[in-house]
Amino acid sequence: MVLLTGFNKIKTAVFISGKGSNLKALIKFSKLKKSPININLIISNNPKSKGLKFAKIFKIKKKVFNYNHKNLSEKKILFELKKNKIKLICLAGFMKILSKYFIKNFKGIILNIHPSLLPKFKGLNTHERAIKNKEKYSGCTVHIVNSKLDSGKIILQKKVKIQKYDTPKTLADKILIQEHKLYPKAIMEIFSL
Ligand code: GRF
Repeated sequence: MVLLTGFNKIKTAVFISGKGSNLKALIKFSKLKKSPININLIISNNPKSKGLKFAKIFKIKKKVFNYNHKNLSEKKILFELKKNKIKLICLAGFMKILSKYFIKNFKGIILNIHPSLLPKFKGLNTHERAIKNKEKYSGCTVHIVNSKLDSGKIILQKKVKIQKYDTPKTLADKILIQEHKLYPKAIMEIFSL
């Protein structure tokens, strides 16, 4: 068995736009001995992302790109990823869609966590739509990112029951708790041979 240290773990970048609770869960996971990843870089399109505070707390390099010019921002991000030898990107509440160009030119794996049981409810407002549709269950999905939105190979899913009294907010909160467990589990699944 290979002993994983910060040096030989898979260099990972986490992309965020908001609170960063999934980022926090991934950082905590990355510190475990059994974790195959190390988080080397945090990227955000939003300078006001609350999650950026975790860069300071955990001493991780962070970069913010304004996305006024998407093509240019993506090129700069690709450069940064290459410079930092990043082999895995974890999208965690990143509210920008990566272009085909970006996906083709990043030589590594890109994962995303989505708050629904894909292929149901791709895109935004998933909880609202699941409740409106009178679904019995919703949940979350970790999948590989390809050029079609929320459509890449599914790695793992977790079901969450929708109760009669659930609102989009209560459902989001319940699912988020599961997201924090599912993302690390999916990473283990991909990288532990
Ligand atoms: C999560 O529900 C994630 O699935 C979705 O956006 C939310 C981000 O939450 N794409 P956080 O920023 O990780 O707290």
